[in-house]
Parts: sequence; C-alpha cells; structure tokens
Amino acid sequence: MQSITDILYKHKTDKVGHHSYGPIYEEYFNQLRDQKIRICEIGIDKGYSINAWLEIFPHGEVVGIDRKVDQKVIDYYNNVPRCSAIKSNAYTISTWSDLGEFDIIIDDGSHKPNHQTWVAGLLMNRCKILIIEDINIKFLKRVTGVKWSRPGKVFNMANHDSQDNIIAVW
Ligand SMILES: C[S@@+](CC[C@H](N)C(=O)[O-])C[C@H]1O[C@@H](n2cnc3c(N)ncnc32)[C@H](O)[C@@H]1O
Repeated sequence: MQSITDILYKHKTDKVGHHSYGPIYEEYFNQLRDQKIRICEIGIDKGYSINAWLEIFPHGEVVGIDRKVDQKVIDYYNNVPRCSAIKSNAYTISTWSDLGEFDIIIDDGSHKPNHQTWVAGLLMNRCKILIIEDINIKFLKRVTGVKWSRPGKVFNMANHDSQDNIIAVW
C-alpha cells in the first residue's frame, strides 16, 4: 500500500512539499485507512486533496466544502462515488446542520484566525479528529502565551477528559 505522504504528493496537494504535514497525517490516519470513515475537508479548490483522501481511504466517504469553487467542480465531485461537494461558507453553523458527524474534519479553508477559532469551538464535537491547517503562529502565541516556532510542529489541544483531538499544524 502506498504511504499517505506519497499519495498526498502524487495528487499535488500542498500538504507535502510546500508544507510537511505527511508524517502528522501518517501518525493519526494510518490506523483508519481500511475503515469506513467519514472525512470532511473545508477547502476543495482544484480537488487535489479530495482525490487524495478518496485513495487514502478506499472505503471512506469524503465530503468537501468550498465557498468559491467553480460549480463544475462541485458537480463533478457530486458524481464521484463515495464523495460529495458542497458550495457554501464553511464557517457558519447552517452549512453543518445536515452533515452529521465525521471521524475527521480538516480545515484547509480561509486560514483566518477568527475562522480557525470558530472551527476549534464549534466543530470539535462533530468529529473524533479535528485538524486545523496553516495556523498563524503569531496568533497562537497570543492565545496560548507560548512561543511556537518550529515549523510543522503539532500542537495537540486534546482535552484529556475526552476522546477528541484538535491538531493545529503549520
Ligand atoms: C488552500 S485551498 C484548498 C486546497 C485543498 N484543500 C487541497 O489541498 O487541494 C483553500 C480553499 O478554501 C476556500 N475557502 C476560503 N474561504 C472559505 C469559506 N469561508 N468557506 C468555504 N471555503 C472557503 C477557497 O475558496 C479555496 O478554494
């Protein structure tokens, strides 16, 4: 089986190469690869990561949300088996009202701190693993009081009383 990193690279996502998220996704997703998981990514753009998740999780259901993406892209993914695409602002509760729960939610949308805060607060209870990509480390320092400097470091905000993981990456 090809590694998650290789598949993310093959499908031209910037999660590897530009960013170094491969090992983080390996660590958290490897044990789920043969399962019937539900994964949702905020930010479809050209569909690179949707294509990668469909291959990484061959039994999984993949949902993409994007506010601006071309309607042709939305129509295309709504005709791909195990996949659906929604054209909507992801940072509003009405978008999520009929979507149910997910195993994994990834925020690769606007990368704005106020949206990332919204995601951390409101989507944490919708999934088992919540990944927020491209965290602004100056913002993180402001809210945590800690100087986070190593690129690619995982900031795991898991609440030890719950099973939920929030993983912020940059
Ligand atoms: C970095 S691209 C996503 C790349 C994609 N996840 C991949 O790895 O191939 C960010 C996308 O987020 C979308 N976006 C920005 N603000 C958004 C919002 N408020 N709601 C939904 N999508 C948003 C943009 O339209 C853009 O297509």
